[in-house]
Amino acid sequence: MRDSFQNEIPYINFKDVSFSYTEKKENLIFKCNFSIKKTGFWMVVGKNGSGKSTLLKLINGIIKPKNGIVNCQANIGMVFQNPDHQILMPNCRSELLLNVNENISDYEITQKIDYVLAQVGLTGFEKRPVHTLSGGQKQRLTIACALISNKNFILLDEPTALLDQTSQLKVLKTIKNLTSDHEKPLTALWITHRYEELNYADEVAELKNGFLSGWQEPSKFEYN
Ligand SMILES: Nc1ncnc2c1ncn2[C@@H]1O[C@H](COP(=O)(O)OP(=O)(O)OP(=O)(O)O)[C@@H](O)[C@H]1O
Ligand SMILES: [Mg+2]
Repeated sequence: MRDSFQNEIPYINFKDVSFSYTEKKENLIFKCNFSIKKTGFWMVVGKNGSGKSTLLKLINGIIKPKNGIVNCQANIGMVFQNPDHQILMPNCRSELLLNVNENISDYEITQKIDYVLAQVGLTGFEKRPVHTLSGGQKQRLTIACALISNKNFILLDEPTALLDQTSQLKVLKTIKNLTSDHEKPLTALWITHRYEELNYADEVAELKNGFLSGWQEPSKFEYN
């Protein structure tokens, strides 16, 4: 169902990147170096306030580094931490339509909408007004929007924070499947502070003291 992805393999490189929200304060992100040059399921873990959301904003260019170089060559989609900061339209279908970036027929659009809603466990929600959705349902709608948007690199900022365990597992497995697809793998960078989610990742790193640790396989990952 997923098709015509451009630039399948993203290229993300941070070189000595530092950032602070104010001039005086010490850097929130400090001389941060890392790369993502392969498809797959990448996860970053870190404590509250460690700068995880800030890191994603640097990747997608919402904010610019104070020092250093951010080089991102990818077709980036974003799932924000708070779905209310993202949803613009009155119902699920119109919100999904807003994220369709291809010139495809109404039939194909309807098929895609059915597909992405099923992927996040929202089958039958197409006509539902957004204001009737729970927080977790809104969060899943924003993930469906990222999936329908035909991007090759999706940034997900604590996408399961509002979800119960069943929905959490469904979304984790969906992203895992899409990033493991042999023909057209999606690449996902998933922010979390739930350590049990790390087992689904291909590579894990910890953001701490403004610095991202090296990538490691989940089984070898040690956090402090
Ligand atoms: N626009 C802003 N202006 C000033 N300070 C900010 C701004 N956005 C975030 N901060 C501060 O920067 C620090 C890091 O915030 P950030 O949201 O990146 O952390 P986080 O790791 O995503 O936290 P959480 O786990 O709570 O989502 C926090 O102390 C936060 O208060
Ligand atoms: Mg955050």
